[in-house]
Amino acid sequence: MRLALLGCGTVGAEVVRLLHEQSADLAARIGAPLEIAGIAVRRIGRDRGELPIDPALFTTDALGLIKRDDVDVVVEVVGGIEPARSWLVEALRAGKSVVTANKALLAEDGGALHDAAAEGDGDLYYEASVAGAIPLLRPLRESLHGDRITRVTGIVNGTTNFILSAMHATGAGFAEALEEATELGYAEADPTADVEGFDAAAKAAILASLAFHTRVGAADVHREGITEVTAADVASAKAMGCTIKLLCIAARGTDGQGREAVSVRVHPAMIPLTHPLASVGDAFNAVFVEADAAGQLMFYGRGAGGAPTASAVLGDVVAVARNRLAGVRSASESAYAALPVRPMGEALTRYHISLDVADRPGVLEAVAGVFARHDVSIATVRQGPADGGKGDAVLVIVTHVAPDAALAATVGELRGLDIVRSVASVLRVEGGL
Ligand SMILES: NC(=O)c1ccc[n+]([C@@H]2O[C@H](COP(=O)([O-])OP(=O)(O)OC[C@H]3O[C@@H](n4cnc5c(N)ncnc54)[C@H](OP(=O)(O)O)[C@@H]3O)[C@@H](O)[C@H]2O)c1
Repeated sequence: MRLALLGCGTVGAEVVRLLHEQSADLAARIGAPLEIAGIAVRRIGRDRGELPIDPALFTTDALGLIKRDDVDVVVEVVGGIEPARSWLVEALRAGKSVVTANKALLAEDGGALHDAAAEGDGDLYYEASVAGAIPLLRPLRESLHGDRITRVTGIVNGTTNFILSAMHATGAGFAEALEEATELGYAEADPTADVEGFDAAAKAAILASLAFHTRVGAADVHREGITEVTAADVASAKAMGCTIKLLCIAARGTDGQGREAVSVRVHPAMIPLTHPLASVGDAFNAVFVEADAAGQLMFYGRGAGGAPTASAVLGDVVAVARNRLAGVRSASESAYAALPVRPMGEALTRYHISLDVADRPGVLEAVAGVFARHDVSIATVRQGPADGGKGDAVLVIVTHVAPDAALAATVGELRGLDIVRSVASVLRVEGGL
């Protein structure tokens, strides 16, 4: 079984190491030895440390390597949309099996890969693209295929989880926590993809596609990052017995006409400390899956890093290599349900709103009137003395579930009330509170 490795960076180098260290076991599990036919990189001369590989295997001609007749399996750990998409489409159409960790590509144009896989006779596996080492996509696409998944809620970005966990533990602001994450190597020099939620949104699209048998792309995912989360928000959450996490949420529901639909979103949310995801600290990932018959399932582990991600890549390599030897292929893409994706405004959410208000008669009634006008029901109200002297009193309101658009409109109107000095914090709430 011969393998073309595209990319030899953080993940690729670990794939090479594991292939070398475990070659005898992998051969036994597959039923044939696994050999690297070539490794495509951008810079042949780059220092890659002590890699147990013949330097002559490196090439800059990725396409030439993919097209070689002696290549059975193509492993792509380069990343980005192009040229990765063209390479993988070429490989799949030519009947090779593909293993990729490329969440950006799968979320941007996974359909092109699945269509190409359907044209060829190889497999397309991508376990490493979501939540690194955690076996998650295989359970969604195989183990739970007899069930009906209703909701997937996950912490799928380690960088933002590290930052929010640090803010919760120390009371630090976002900028300070980001600096610590960068110093410790948890955040990249340009952290935009992580802190603005792009990375989590790509993973949300992949999870939703598998969970709901529907093609969901990154553009379908409502995305908000964590750059606006303040130390005051975190303190406010703590005071409610909660913490703030960047969640990816994919849920079944109905659209305005009562037809089955899905909503997929990524945003910071308050969750009670008793929620299973609240204790997921540091840079760990966890995904909470709810299904009709299985009930609640939780998947937890390291969501990134060279070795954890390479573990998921090699698991896929063993699976596709076995299939090839047996002359079979895995089930193709399951997108038969083709459910519509609801806009964020229709998603059912709950808000926690903290207001600095004037302390005089009629204020509570005026504020409650705004909620009533937008048909948003209030679950709890807490009033306390003003914080920092900006207003005369602080009102903390938690709503019941309502369409996100109604909640946003409520906040908009509250901002315009003269008795509201400022809207100090607005956070969505997930889980029972
Ligand atoms: N790092 C993680 O923890 C992690 C976790 C989950 C998923 N992933 C995914 O895994 C993939 C790889 O991530 P990584 O962190 O390993 O990236 P990386 O360290 O930046 O490595 C990228 C590799 O691709 C090569 N490359 C880039 N452009 C190329 C081109 N045009 N032609 C040939 N080779 C090219 C680079 O070559 P040179 O070595 O010559 O520069 C390098 O070896 C991405 O899709 C990423 O999203 C990563």
